[in-house]
Amino acid sequence: MCGIFAYIGQQNAYDVLIKGLKRLEYRGYDSAGIALLNKGLNLYKTKGKVTDLEDLMKDKNKEGNVGIAHTRWATHGEPNDANAHPHYSLSKKLAIIHNGIIENYASLREELVKRGFVFRSDTDTEVLIHLIEDIQISEKVDLVEAVQIALNEVIGAYAIVILNKDNPNELIAAKKGSPLVVGLGKDEYFFASDATPIVEYTQNVVYLEEEEIAIVNIKEGLKIKTTKNKDKTPYVQKLEMSLQALEKGGYEHFMLKEIYEQPRSIRDSMRGRLNIEGGIVSLGGIIDYEQKFLSANRIIIIACGTSWHAALVGEYLFEDLARIPVEVEYASEFIYRNPVIYENDVVIAISQSGETADTLAAIELAKSKGATIIGICNVVGSSIARAVHAGSYTHAGPEIGVASTKAFTAQVTILTLMALMIAQKKGTISKSRFYQIINELNVIPAKVEKTLKASEKVKAIAEIFQDSRNFLYLGRGYNFPVALEGALKLKEISYIHAEGYPAAEMKHGPIALIDEQMPIVVVATKKGTYEKIISNIQEIKARKGIIIAIITEGDKRVKDIADYIIEIPDTDEVLTPLVATIPLQLLSYYVAVMRGCNVDQPRNLAKSVTVE
Ligand code: F6R
Repeated sequence: MCGIFAYIGQQNAYDVLIKGLKRLEYRGYDSAGIALLNKGLNLYKTKGKVTDLEDLMKDKNKEGNVGIAHTRWATHGEPNDANAHPHYSLSKKLAIIHNGIIENYASLREELVKRGFVFRSDTDTEVLIHLIEDIQISEKVDLVEAVQIALNEVIGAYAIVILNKDNPNELIAAKKGSPLVVGLGKDEYFFASDATPIVEYTQNVVYLEEEEIAIVNIKEGLKIKTTKNKDKTPYVQKLEMSLQALEKGGYEHFMLKEIYEQPRSIRDSMRGRLNIEGGIVSLGGIIDYEQKFLSANRIIIIACGTSWHAALVGEYLFEDLARIPVEVEYASEFIYRNPVIYENDVVIAISQSGETADTLAAIELAKSKGATIIGICNVVGSSIARAVHAGSYTHAGPEIGVASTKAFTAQVTILTLMALMIAQKKGTISKSRFYQIINELNVIPAKVEKTLKASEKVKAIAEIFQDSRNFLYLGRGYNFPVALEGALKLKEISYIHAEGYPAAEMKHGPIALIDEQMPIVVVATKKGTYEKIISNIQEIKARKGIIIAIITEGDKRVKDIADYIIEIPDTDEVLTPLVATIPLQLLSYYVAVMRGCNVDQPRNLAKSVTVE
């Protein structure tokens, strides 16, 4: 979703900003723009990519040491040059970049139009900068005060940075509901939606809190105030992100790199938390909340997209191992359907980015009802990580490809550890079963590594099916969420329609779709409902469907019926998603590449969905 990057310092702002925008590209966007302060406050913006912006800037003055830049993912108004950020105020003395949505923008706009304001775009953002300038002039206050007054009038979410022609030494930023990080370099400062464009310049950052305003003056440094004019002391944190993690490292796409990183990211997510010799699983971040789990009548897991699929695996794990009833909720539905939430509910919120607006809103709702909120996030210091009572980070490292891969397996790893930890404390798992699972968990990274070796085979299958118009993905038990995730991966990066279904549900409807054109990916590992899934495969074959089966290494029965097979190493049923997901990620990746799709930045998609 929209990316903010701003710079003030000693370097050429244009160079720093363009590089930063490229780092933010992974968030997803459809236009880009920049404002520089040199001979005046100049603003350049265009529909398209950052490279289009560079083309536009070829013959322009790129001097100056201060500027703001933006990648926009359209919400209000179509993606065109006029709606791209930054936006000028009426006098063109101020320029703003904005992430989030000003919900009462229509009434504010109407008011401003009545008072003679002319709008150059359809955006809610332009309303905000006009409002700020209007207050500044009519109430004769300085810019900071005008920003404070305006932000107290608006309803909605914002992360903003404002550049002021009359004060080239200063940038003003504010945040509510959308993330904003301030990077503190030596005689230079950065503002960004996330730390990725900052890390190559400085490790020292301040994450702005809700309704805080940051004023960076190149001579005076950083000051933080609230929108209610309370002074705050900046809390400086050290970034742990490495620059290397933000590069493709020889892979053709970030997605492929991230698929291949999974043996490491799963291991990193277990590191220090799984003690095989001692027979202990311990997630330090939630130890103080163990009792809440033990006395919970139920767990509610809230998430969106791929994280929601991980949540479904979590449901199977917690019910199976810890015998606690689990409800899995789409965060967006949870918020608006007046859910019943009890004080002794434990709510687990899962989010890679930690910025998903729906999930954040669901957390706030559950919190307001007194429930205990546990987070599973990948991005350290993210809004969700800060909103929850406690939690465990996945240690997947930055995920740049828009389609989530390594974050999913890391989330499932944490859920497995969590369920095991609680099951052990609750006494719902026998010692022998506990050891069986943890020993197997310990070798999962090696099994994932082995599964990745099937890549050439998967590629050959992708070649055959690259022009298919529909796909069906089926699985049962722990493999049902795997089927859903496989279908989501395919549709989001290759734009092929794909549906995931519980295999047994097929006969209640989707079976009507099956003919000799329809590829059906069946996750048919030799565990749990193996016999039942064989019957489901027979039903498909009887109707001439084409079966691509994910099978346990050496399994002859499914191999004999399926048209194509991909073998994966045998593992414990509860850990199957960690392995069975891998070939499905590869399949979607290769199909998308063969179709010429933009794998890392699929159309219309955003990496962190910061609007509801
Ligand atoms: C799919 C994908 C999305 C995200 C969803 C939630 O590949 O990336 O479906 O999973 O937008 O995002 P997070 O996990 O950041 O809350």
